[in-house]
Amino acid sequence: MNETLQKLIKREEERQQNTINLIPSENFTSKAVREATGSIFMHKYSEGNIGVRYYEGNEVVDELESECIRMVKKVMIHDDGLRNEWESNVQVLSGSTANLAVYNAVLNPGDTILSMYLPDGGHLSHGWSHTPSGEKSNIQNPISKVSNDDIYLGGSVKSNFNSKIFNIIQYRVDKETELINYDKLLDHLKKFNPKLFIVGGTAYPRYIDYKKIREVLDEYKSETGNRVLFLADVAHEAGLIAGGVHPSPFESADFVTFTTHKTLRGPRGAVVMCRREFIDAVNKSVMPGLLGGPFNHTIAGLLQTLYESDSDEFKNYSEQVVKNAKLLAELFMKKGYRVVSGGTDKHMVLVDFSNKGISGRAVSKALAMIGIITNKNTVPFEKGTPVSPSGVRFGTPFVTTRGFKETEINQTFEVIEKLIEVASSVASETFKEFVEKISSKKSDLDLLAKEVAELCSKFPLNI
Ligand SMILES: Cc1ncc(COP(=O)(O)O)c(C=O)c1O
Repeated sequence: MNETLQKLIKREEERQQNTINLIPSENFTSKAVREATGSIFMHKYSEGNIGVRYYEGNEVVDELESECIRMVKKVMIHDDGLRNEWESNVQVLSGSTANLAVYNAVLNPGDTILSMYLPDGGHLSHGWSHTPSGEKSNIQNPISKVSNDDIYLGGSVKSNFNSKIFNIIQYRVDKETELINYDKLLDHLKKFNPKLFIVGGTAYPRYIDYKKIREVLDEYKSETGNRVLFLADVAHEAGLIAGGVHPSPFESADFVTFTTHKTLRGPRGAVVMCRREFIDAVNKSVMPGLLGGPFNHTIAGLLQTLYESDSDEFKNYSEQVVKNAKLLAELFMKKGYRVVSGGTDKHMVLVDFSNKGISGRAVSKALAMIGIITNKNTVPFEKGTPVSPSGVRFGTPFVTTRGFKETEINQTFEVIEKLIEVASSVASETFKEFVEKISSKKSDLDLLAKEVAELCSKFPLNI
């Protein structure tokens, strides 16, 4: 291998080995998953579907893809009867294209999508537009002003491609509970008559009540005759659903999309699952609608992931991921930190630092300086900006893979707390000033970095 590249890979290995990764959307795969993802399947073009390809030489790829589809259904849907009602497309390249594949399959330009408000924890690929300063929107400046409005109509700056094509309306979480307000859903449906309803997001730490949503959609249909299609984007929850520690959306939804690299612990990739009636439309939407050849090496890596997830070991892992996150939430709350929604049911904790006089941006930067890797995030009814939001997401999938249990979560929290103390003592007007001031606290930072390094060395990654 080229020396420059070799050095880069080595450095990244060391970075992953020697830092505590608390990003909820990342994980660390097995060596077998990495081998399969780096396998010679990457050389093959296989545009089309199983048995009907545009290139010759796909006998083995056909078997690979069929087996992957079989295993996706086995791992994700635990009830045999229900499993027969579902189909899968494993060719999509990422979570965003998985969602686009669903839109392209069943929507026409101009159709209305009702999805979760991005700054409350939704996802960009569910549509996002905003208002330039000076222009009026129903929520003045959606990201920087507190609002009681429970619906966001968007603005003229279409940041996301989906917002250019579809009419995106976004529901907000309840201001008091910070939970999805299922009671308001029927009103929203009556007002906007969407063609597609989406639930799921990047920073929603609580269970999602798919059954309740189905009930409301059915009630709306019986009142109006309008069928609203239901997409559950379980990018974050996929591994937890596979492990049986999060409610399943399969009884209730029409489409389920997910990424394969978060709680599911696979290679970067995604899957679209749908009720049988939609599979032809989904397959056509993927190819020729959106993509050329699938990444067969990623499908191979996914298949290995699925064999690994179909086990008691993975069930135990998923349980531990949730236990670790719940403990982290409790530790933060005991020390007076505001945890969004008052806790977590899943693999992530969203902490709002606005009552501590320090931004999420400052906290995540300071944590990175001692080797704890997180990401800044908006919180519901955010008063900051996307660049400098109030929150930080803390996730447990990666550290649980490396073997962290309650003891290590306690130790990690102690380090986080000490670091926040140091960071708060130099809270500054500007981020630049903050970075300068905290950098001068070298001896404090070095001591904490040493604790991080010790913890990592006790739980080495199998690189
Ligand atoms: C809920 C949700 N949907 C979709 C995606 C997009 O996935 P990708 O980054 O693979 O496009 C993410 C990624 O974080 C996500 O959290």
